[in-house]
Amino acid sequence: MNEPTIIEYLVADHVRLHDLLERAMSLPHLELGAYAAFRRGLLRHIKIEEKVLFPAVREARGGQALDRAHELRVDHAALTSLLVSTPDLELCREILGLLSTHDAKEEGVGGSYEECKRWLSDDELVLLAQRARSLPEVRVAAYLHRPGVYRTAESALASARRMPAPKKGIG
Ligand SMILES: [Fe+2]
Ligand SMILES: [Fe+2]
Repeated sequence: MNEPTIIEYLVADHVRLHDLLERAMSLPHLELGAYAAFRRGLLRHIKIEEKVLFPAVREARGGQALDRAHELRVDHAALTSLLVSTPDLELCREILGLLSTHDAKEEGVGGSYEECKRWLSDDELVLLAQRARSLPEVRVAAYLHRPGVYRTAESALASARRMPAPKKGIG
């Protein structure tokens, strides 16, 4: 059997993370254990994309970032900031909406994962999957419940969009 590529690994992780979030949102009460697993998993997923996959593509392109690198990074920053707050159902709905839009930018025809596959060989993609799997769990902070913590996708995105766009060759 062929070993999975990092793209297959990440697509399967999208499904796993969506399932965890939907499980967390099961009524009548938020399933906090499922949400905690989702939160840890999403932070690790983002780290794999930003520290393993996207830099490998940038290197393969002679220093030029993925076409949508900045847009994806803005989404990642917004998602990360939504994970800071103490969760409730409303927050989970905001995260689910943003995550669904984001995952669609990566998967499927014309998505960023397809672009990654154009620049990296199957062997390279399998090696990157091994690196991804060996990445340790991300350490997570306690939930914050206070004014100023982002609770809507709109506010989190607005803040993340204020990040400077990378100069050519970075990002
Ligand atoms: Fe992503
Ligand atoms: Fe992803």
